[in-house]
Amino acid sequence: MRQPSNEDITKAFDKNAHHYDRWMNFFERYIADGARAWAVSMAHGAVIEIGVGSGLNLPMYGPKVKHVTGFDLSEEMLAIARRRVAEKRIDRMELHHGDAQALDLPSESADTVISTFTFCTIPDPLAASREAYRVLRPGGVFVLAEHGRSTRPFVRTAMRALEPLSIRISADHITRDPVPYLTSAGFTITEVQRGGPGGIIFRVLARKHDTAS
Ligand SMILES: C[S@@+](CC[C@H](N)C(=O)[O-])C[C@H]1O[C@@H](n2cnc3c(N)ncnc32)[C@H](O)[C@@H]1O
Repeated sequence: MRQPSNEDITKAFDKNAHHYDRWMNFFERYIADGARAWAVSMAHGAVIEIGVGSGLNLPMYGPKVKHVTGFDLSEEMLAIARRRVAEKRIDRMELHHGDAQALDLPSESADTVISTFTFCTIPDPLAASREAYRVLRPGGVFVLAEHGRSTRPFVRTAMRALEPLSIRISADHITRDPVPYLTSAGFTITEVQRGGPGGIIFRVLARKHDTAS
């Protein structure tokens, strides 16, 4: 099956941006198992948010976070995020059009990279993992809240059957497991928790090797 390109993703999220928060509200209430709040609570220092979307995380960052730079491919999603930042008068935020697979950022410039429900849509998750590794300082963390393949065989089979449709409609790889991409990019996995219905929610912490340790 043809994999979605950056252009497909941009088109899908531009088209559905105005429904996104409503749909996410349902997903978070019944499925996401608090993973967004967990991910945001793990962020510190200079933060890069990949696939920042409509900016749902932005009002949640606390005082441990010095600055957030968010990137997204969809200008319509970014427009909602910019509106949220302005309406809620959130400071320390910068939002840019950009690709998580090729970030326009210097190496070793971030303490945290965060991805909430974005990794499942990125066309080349290994390239995005390598970029996260590159932009993190030694000892920095990549925090992921995701959905992915169920821990239950029956649910997993049903998800595999549905996946071609979810990829076609929303570029969503519903059975993707982020962990092998992160280890291939050089990260050490320090935490993986599974939760939500059928164990489909992932909370992952991946650390870049600290040259000092
Ligand atoms: C399901 S939404 C998640 C949005 C947000 N992170 C959240 O938690 O609500 C996925 C977002 O990732 C963006 N995206 C997908 N692939 C991307 C890439 N390669 N670079 C930047 N953004 C990307 C999409 O445009 C979309 O806004």
